[in-house]
Formats: sequence, C-alpha cells, structure tokens
Amino acid sequence: MLLHVLIVVGADVSTVRQPPTIVKQSVKDYIVDPRDNILIECEAKGNPQPTHSFPWGRLTEFFNIGKDPRVNMRKRSGTLDISFRSGERPEDYEGVYQCFASNDLGVALSHKIQLHVSKAPLWPKEQPKPVPVTEGSSLVLPCNPPPGLPPPTTFWMSSTMTSIEQDQRVSMGLNGDLYFSHVLSRDAQTDYSCNARFLFTIQQKNPFTLRVQTSEYNCISIYSRTIPESTPSFLSPLGTESSKTVLRDQQLLLECIAAGRPTPTISWFKKGGELPENKATLENFNKTLRVSSVSEEDAGEYVCMATNRLGSIRHAISVHVKAAPYWLDKPTNLVLAPDENGRLVCRANGNPKPTIQWLVNGQPLNSSLPSHGRQLLGDTILFRSVQMGSSAVYQCNASNQHGYLLANAFLNVLDMPPRMLGPKNQVIKVIENNRTFLDCPFFGSPLPDLRWSACPE
Ligand SMILES: *[C@@H]1O[C@H](CO)[C@@H](O)[C@H](O)[C@H]1NC(C)=O
Ligand SMILES: *[C@@H]1O[C@H](CO)[C@@H](O)[C@H](O)[C@H]1NC(C)=O
Ligand SMILES: *[C@@H]1O[C@H](CO)[C@@H](O)[C@H](O)[C@H]1NC(C)=O
Ligand SMILES: *[C@@H]1O[C@H](CO)[C@@H](O)[C@H](O)[C@H]1NC(C)=O
Repeated sequence: MLLHVLIVVGADVSTVRQPPTIVKQSVKDYIVDPRDNILIECEAKGNPQPTHSFPWGRLTEFFNIGKDPRVNMRKRSGTLDISFRSGERPEDYEGVYQCFASNDLGVALSHKIQLHVSKAPLWPKEQPKPVPVTEGSSLVLPCNPPPGLPPPTTFWMSSTMTSIEQDQRVSMGLNGDLYFSHVLSRDAQTDYSCNARFLFTIQQKNPFTLRVQTSEYNCISIYSRTIPESTPSFLSPLGTESSKTVLRDQQLLLECIAAGRPTPTISWFKKGGELPENKATLENFNKTLRVSSVSEEDAGEYVCMATNRLGSIRHAISVHVKAAPYWLDKPTNLVLAPDENGRLVCRANGNPKPTIQWLVNGQPLNSSLPSHGRQLLGDTILFRSVQMGSSAVYQCNASNQHGYLLANAFLNVLDMPPRMLGPKNQVIKVIENNRTFLDCPFFGSPLPDLRWSACPE
C-alpha cells in the first residue's frame, strides 16, 4: 500500500549573514601554457557576497588590475583572466599571487599561488663525436635534457625513430642516461638519440654513434672471438653507500645499475626487515625499486646487490623520510550565539614538526588588537562568551621547511530564531512496511532543538 507523507517546512536562508569562505583557487604551484590566456582562480562565497582583491603579488607591484588592459577580474568572483596578443610576454606575469576575499564580517585568504610559465628549452647545439668503446666494456651515454618546466620525461630512439630496445644489459636510468653493462659489436648498428618530452613538445638530442672495437685481430676467427668477462661494478650510484631523502606520501625511487659481463643481476633487500610488501615494486629489470606512498616506517637502509658468475658487490642507500605538514585537526567553521563559548583547533604533524601561526582576517593574531574573551593556546583559540561583532575569519598556517598548509575557518556570531531549510510542503511517497528517511534540515543560533510530530490531515 502506498502512503503519502506531507512535510511542512518553510525556508529562506539567504538572509543569514556569513563571513567569506574560499571555494575555489588555483593550485599552489601553477604552471601555465604560454600559448593560452592565464586564468588565476579565486572564488569565495559569503553573505554579503565577498569582494576580491589581490593585494599581494607580482601583478599589483607593477600594475593596477583596473588599469592593466590585459587583466580582467571576473564579475562576482576573484578569478583573473590575463589575455595576450601575439608578441606579448606571459613571463611578465610570473610571480606569487594571493587572493583576499572580504565582506564586512571578515577576510578569507587563498594560499599563495606561484605562477610559472611552462618552458621547453632547446637542447644546446652540439654534435656528439663518435664514441669509441671496446667490446665488453661498459658505457654510459649521457642525456642531460635541458631544464624544462615541468621537467621533461626522456626516452631513447635511433635517428630513424625506432625505440632502443631495453633489456637487462642496456637500459635507461632515472636521470635519462643510457647504460650499457657491457657493449657488444652489434650495438654499433644503431645510433642513439635522447628525446625529451615536454608538456607540449618533444625535442631530440643529436644522436651518438658508437664505434665498437672488437678484439677479432687476436682471434682465429670472428665466430670464436672471445669477449673478456668482468666482475660487477656500479655505474649508478657510484661507491658503496649513498643516502636519499623522500617526503611522506610521495614515492621512493632507488636505482642500482651495474657494469659487468655476463650482465649482473640486481637484487634488493632492506637491512633488519623486509621490503615493504604491497608498496614495493621492481622495475627496469630489477634495477629500480619503487616504493609508493612512503611512510615513516619505510625509512632505513636499503641494499642492492649486483651479481654475475665472477662475483657480487653491494651498495647501501640510507633512506630518510621527512614530511610536509599534514592535518591532524583542520579547523572548521564555528557558528555561535551571543554569550556562547567555542574553540578553533589547528593541529598538524610533519617532519620536522610544523609551527602553527594564526592570522585573523589576514593579519597576524598576536599583532591584532586583543579581543575580549579570546585566548590563544598554541594550536587552539578559545572564545569565551562571544559577542555580536566578534565574527571574523581565522587563518591557520602550519608550516615547515617542506611546505605549508593554510586553512580558513570563520567564527560567525549569530542571533537567529530557528528556521527550516528544506523545501516547503514536501510530499514523500513510501511503501507500507518499508523503511523511509524523512530529512529535515534546519538552522538557528543558538542551535535549536528539533522535534517531530505527525499532524492529522
Ligand atoms: C605560511 O607560513 C610559511 C612560513 O612562514 C610561509 O612561507 C608561507 O608563505 C605562509 N603561507 C601563507 C599562505 O601565508
Ligand atoms: C627480478 O627479481 C625477481 C625476484 O627477486 C626474480 O624472480 C626475477 O627473475 C628478477 N628478474 C631479473 C630480470 O633479474
Ligand atoms: C608574533 O608572531 C611572530 C611570528 O609567529 C613572532 O615572531 C613574534 O615574536 C610574535 N610577537 C609577539 C608580540 O608575540
Ligand atoms: C524500500 O526501502 C529501501 C531502503 O530504504 C529502498 O532502497 C527501496 O527502494 C524501497 N522500496 C520501494 C519500493 O520504495
């Protein structure tokens, strides 16, 4: 049997005053395509509708947003549109931008947006000389891609654009160089060109040609010619130990590449423990160990071992894990009625331990006028018996040398009778004996009690 339930509510929340909240912003490290217009996003909501400004940044040091014909701030948002005609330089707009959104209750801040224009520089002009190498010895062909932004990915091709086949003996390292554990005469049949793939282009380095000297003169026939064997030695990293620092939640990449003939096999272990199961993978013919999403327990000493039938060698890498700040307790908006108490808590962890700095409406808290009933206790602000007029936006900046986290949280002091927020006179169809949820959003300050009752039709 079908029943009908009528919910009687009335709502209008548009008159509730609210300090600004940032709802959209460009990323902290913002790389733009020089061929496009630049869009720096900053949108905020609040009541009254916040106005935006960029009191900070490259832009306003030199130009006035209102006066620069290339810069346009979108209506009802703080998003900047910077448009160029051909021949104009987007690089002039590189710099740090920070958006402030304000209404008469407070000021919310975006994080600092560092704007870079993407770059794909050409390879320096050079004509690599033919590389002489004796058969059986090791070889490293350098790639050294030009420093692009973002950094390019690299790969090796022959000049006829066929890719260089990678195997246990010949493969590319993390730095882009091409490593040969030992060279064979057939390696001279191709030429080798490093390619750098940037965001929008691929650039090719002039190719290397190999001149492989064989020992055939000393031999009876080239078919039985012997290539000397050699014990393993490391091509990368050099020496017997090195160290590496990685940030929490990022990936750890360790690499060991060895010379030798026969081609050494590479194996990995961790001193005093196991390789992190699930998270560790071997790549590039076991020459690379990848640990995804690193945590503190992944710190320690990792050892790679290169082995062939003539011997084996080891290299130890001590891995240190640091951490950019991460939230333990991110402050959340606070709505209080007059004379109520409350708190804003900002707790973050990191390695090194982050320092917490509080701002109110964008100004350092300790330099702002002392506010009655407000107390700063390390990571917490206590409010006692708040009054109308104490509404404000608080910023918490948790920072260490690896980065920072910025949170905005407002204190909104409201004196408002209870009101319903859902649609009016809602009819909900339900099936008899079936479970149903009736939702009743409401608002008021102080927080109202909610009670349900069934009305006779
Ligand atoms: C947060 O604090 C750090 C360290 O003082 C500073 O470098 C960073 O710019 C601050 N972030 C913001 C958004 O103010
Ligand atoms: C890589 O290591 C795994 C396990 O340690 C082993 O089974 C595999 O044969 C190795 N592969 C190569 C190419 O050495
Ligand atoms: C205010 O805060 C800044 C940065 O946290 C600090 O260097 C300064 O000593 C503080 N000033 C006072 C008066 O507490
Ligand atoms: C009965 O209730 C369940 C759970 O609430 C719901 O998924 C289902 O659609 C309902 N059946 C009918 C016929 O309304």
